Order: sequence, then structure tokens, then C-alpha cells
Amino acid sequence: MQRPVIRPRRLRQSAAMRNQVRELRVDPAELVLPLFVREGLSAPQEISSLPGIQQHTIDSMRAEIAEAAELGIGGVMLFGVPEKRDAYGTGATDPEGILNVAIAAAAAEAGDALTVQADLCLDEFTDHGHCGVLDGKGAVDNDATLSRYAEMAVVQAEMGAQIIGMSGMMDGQIAVAREALDRTGHEDAVLLAYSAKYASAFYGPFREAVDSQLQGDRRTYQMDPANRREGLREALLDIDEGADIVMVKPAMSYLDVLADVSAESIVPVWAYQVSGEYATIVAAAQHGWIERDRAVEESIVSIRRAGADAVLTYFALEYAKALRAR
Ligand code: PBG
Repeated sequence: MQRPVIRPRRLRQSAAMRNQVRELRVDPAELVLPLFVREGLSAPQEISSLPGIQQHTIDSMRAEIAEAAELGIGGVMLFGVPEKRDAYGTGATDPEGILNVAIAAAAAEAGDALTVQADLCLDEFTDHGHCGVLDGKGAVDNDATLSRYAEMAVVQAEMGAQIIGMSGMMDGQIAVAREALDRTGHEDAVLLAYSAKYASAFYGPFREAVDSQLQGDRRTYQMDPANRREGLREALLDIDEGADIVMVKPAMSYLDVLADVSAESIVPVWAYQVSGEYATIVAAAQHGWIERDRAVEESIVSIRRAGADAVLTYFALEYAKALRAR
């Protein structure tokens, strides 16, 4: 019998040996915690499709930020849930609007401990639930939306957002936001481009989290899940337009796109483990079908391994605590 000379198992023989040859370790600074802040709440409210995640009051948001900072988490991404909506999403650009008020409070709480990031999109603020304004035929009007985004970027920067998450998938949105920010003295505001953002069923629980008004879908602006090459195209375009960071979203079903973008990008590449990815793991674990701790770690490690420098994840607090407990 020919006995093997090359034995990869040699490096797996003990925990100490595996520990020595491990290629990647996640640091809490590479995690970003998404937070939902809802107008008019008197106490935090559970989101049924995201067990363990709440819609926050300003005060409970501040407590989460303090905890995230204490755990060494890199940043928080804020989403606003307004009480009133209209066709133009005016709440998004109102300095008294819930997201903008939340940004200011978050910036005050965070200081220099972590970065305050804000979602820049109109979907939470429009009564039709689309990410942009509509034209006379009810289609999302790209260029009319761009001027709303430019205004929103300036307000968010003024309120203290350090990283602006451009999640609306309008063509030209990075260039327009950059120009508006620079013109108003916000050269330091960082643009995070949700570059390769796919029209995904895995955003399901997020719709509950932000009380989405959407009828129909976002397929005329978010990408077709079948398209890999186009993911890289979108990322390269955003880098050309001045994106400081590019992102792939969702993460786990798009690791190929993430690897492509990571191989070509000259700016940091992030990924968003979205609401449905979180809910899937939590639900299976609640049934006892998978081990929660291991599934959480494996999913985040896989996203990092595929090329993400940082990961937005609803598991950020939980995973940072697990890392600390080692
Ligand atoms: C748009 C936005 C969405 C998510 C983040 N930003 C919703 C969408 O595009 O439909 C989804 C995030 C998640 O599912 O966790 N404001």
C-alpha cells in the first residue's frame, strides 16, 4: 500500500496546532451593528421576525451604542422609522426627522469610540416604500431621486454622521453625494457605497423592522441575483465616482461577488449579513437544528474569508461578547 507522504491532517491534530495555522481571526472592530430607531416609542420594541433585535427609542439606542463601544465594535449603522411618510420622503431631509435626530444623539454618545453611520435611502420615509421618488407613471425616477439624496447626505453629515451608507441603488448616487458634501464643507464625510446590492428575499424581516410600505419589489434598481459580473461593474463604477468603501449585500448568498470585488478593489470592501440571514440562523437554532454559536461564527468568518474587511451584522453584540469570552 502506498502510504501518503503529504498529510494535511498533520496541521489539524490538536487545538493548539489548529490555532497556530488559522488564517483569519475576526476582531470586534470589523463588526458594524445595525440599529433601528423608531419615532414615538416610549420603550424598545421587539421585532418579531428578528428575535433579539429591537426598534429603539433614542435612549435605548444610546445604551446599545455604549455597549457596542465597550465591546470594541467598529461602528453602528442607523435606520430611522418615522411616524409619518409622504411621496417625497421629506422626513429624510428634515433635521427634526427621526433618523437625523438619532444621528445627532448617536454622535454625542459615541464620541471617538466608534463610527456613526447612517442609511441614506428614501424607502423608510416614502408612503409608497420605494427607495426614490416616482415619476408620473409610478416608476422610480433616478435623477429626481439624486437631488433628494444630495440633500439627505448634507443633512446627515451636518447631524454628525461620519459614514454615509448609500443604499438606494440609483445610478450616479455616489458622485452626486460627494459633490454635495464637498460643496458644503463636509469633505471628511465618508461614503459607503452599497455597490452590489441585490433584490433579495433575505431583506424580509427588515421590512417589518422599518414598517415598510412597499407594494411590489425593487427589481428596477436592485440587482438580479443571477448576475455576478455586474456586481463587480457596480463596485468599480462606485470607486470611480469616489466611494471610500464599497459593499456587497446580502453576504452569504453572494460570496462569489464579494470575492470578485475584493480581488479588484483598491478601497475597503464590506459586506452586509442582512436581516433574513440573521433570522434564518436564529430560527434554525431555536428549533435545535443547528448550534447557534458555531453557526454565527462560521457565517461571519466565511464572509471575512471571502473578502470582506468588515461585516454589518445583527450578531455584532453577540459575537463580540463571544470573542471576549475566549
Ligand atoms: C434600504 C435598505 C434595506 C436594507 C438596508 N438598507 C432594504 C431594502 O433594500 O429593501 C436591508 C437590510 C436587511 O435586510 O437587513 N434602506
